[in-house]
Amino acid sequence: MLLVTGALGNVGAEVVMALQRRGVAVRAADVNAAAIQQRFGPTVEAVPFDFAQPETFAPAFAGVERMFLMRPPAISDVKRFIFPAIDAAQRAGVQQVVFLSLIGVEKNHIVPHYKVEQHILSVGMPYTFLRPSFFMQNLSTTHRAEIRDRNEIFVPAGRGATSFIDVRDIAAVGALAMAENGHANQAYALTGSEALTYSQVATQLSEVLGRTITYRKPGLLRFLLRQRAQGTPLAFTLVMAGIYTTARLGLAGGVTAEVQRLLGRPPITFRQFAKDFQASWQPTTRSALAV
Ligand SMILES: NC(=O)c1ccc[n+]([C@@H]2O[C@H](COP(=O)([O-])OP(=O)(O)OC[C@H]3O[C@@H](n4cnc5c(N)ncnc54)[C@H](OP(=O)(O)O)[C@@H]3O)[C@@H](O)[C@H]2O)c1
Repeated sequence: MLLVTGALGNVGAEVVMALQRRGVAVRAADVNAAAIQQRFGPTVEAVPFDFAQPETFAPAFAGVERMFLMRPPAISDVKRFIFPAIDAAQRAGVQQVVFLSLIGVEKNHIVPHYKVEQHILSVGMPYTFLRPSFFMQNLSTTHRAEIRDRNEIFVPAGRGATSFIDVRDIAAVGALAMAENGHANQAYALTGSEALTYSQVATQLSEVLGRTITYRKPGLLRFLLRQRAQGTPLAFTLVMAGIYTTARLGLAGGVTAEVQRLLGRPPITFRQFAKDFQASWQPTTRSALAV
């Protein structure tokens, strides 16, 4: 039995589907078990799981050989909420944890992912650390509305390039590490095959969508003010500001060959992602009127 936490999230849902395609037994865990069953159907076992409710741990971990672990973005106190789940998994006999971490985490000790990796290492549980770069799907989720309704990308990344990755590639590597042997005690830095500036992203989106999407290149202050006006929680705005500043400084463009090496095929390109997700940015009748 393989367990996927965050099964309704961007990456977790794709891991569940990748494991389903492999025909292996999957237990999918998230806060809303009914929504899991509705989404994935009867071939997946749905369990309620909440990092804030330790009583949900034992039923989720029972009989599990390997698990996909993710840290929900809203959880920053990983010592309080994530470490106990790792300890419970180990007690229940889970033999390998595939953790959704972050690229560069080995040099960035303030992020929660680093603390989680260190805890997994300290308890001696076999691990696979997936360390992905910035998700392409941030553009179809977090930045969806500004692209769909205002035809713009409004992030303070300057002219810096980012080695975007499609979450489907992260999930394919995660499913591989869970369903096949040979990935214990490995850390994989996962990126797409190219680094793109946000101007290039806007150009590719424009070509795919058949309308002009403009990269506004705001400074940090304008970005912060815009996010405040939109009612984005300050903590999330600050995380985004840090991520886009890293890109602006030219530190987010590193490309690795790990996806190609592990999956035996090139990573999904940004253009392919844009085609596959183009429905996300189609103006609705209401938003079209608002423009
Ligand atoms: N975005 C990026 O570019 C990027 C890059 C590298 C690494 N990462 C890391 O990837 C992770 C996010 O992955 P994702 O995008 O797949 O996440 P996501 O889409 O935000 O999914 C998180 C899932 O966890 C659920 N959840 C929330 N609180 C929970 C709790 N207390 N217990 C159990 N489940 C809970 C959420 O349910 P609700 O929706 O009901 O809250 C949701 O289904 C983060 O750790 C992030 O730092 C992100």
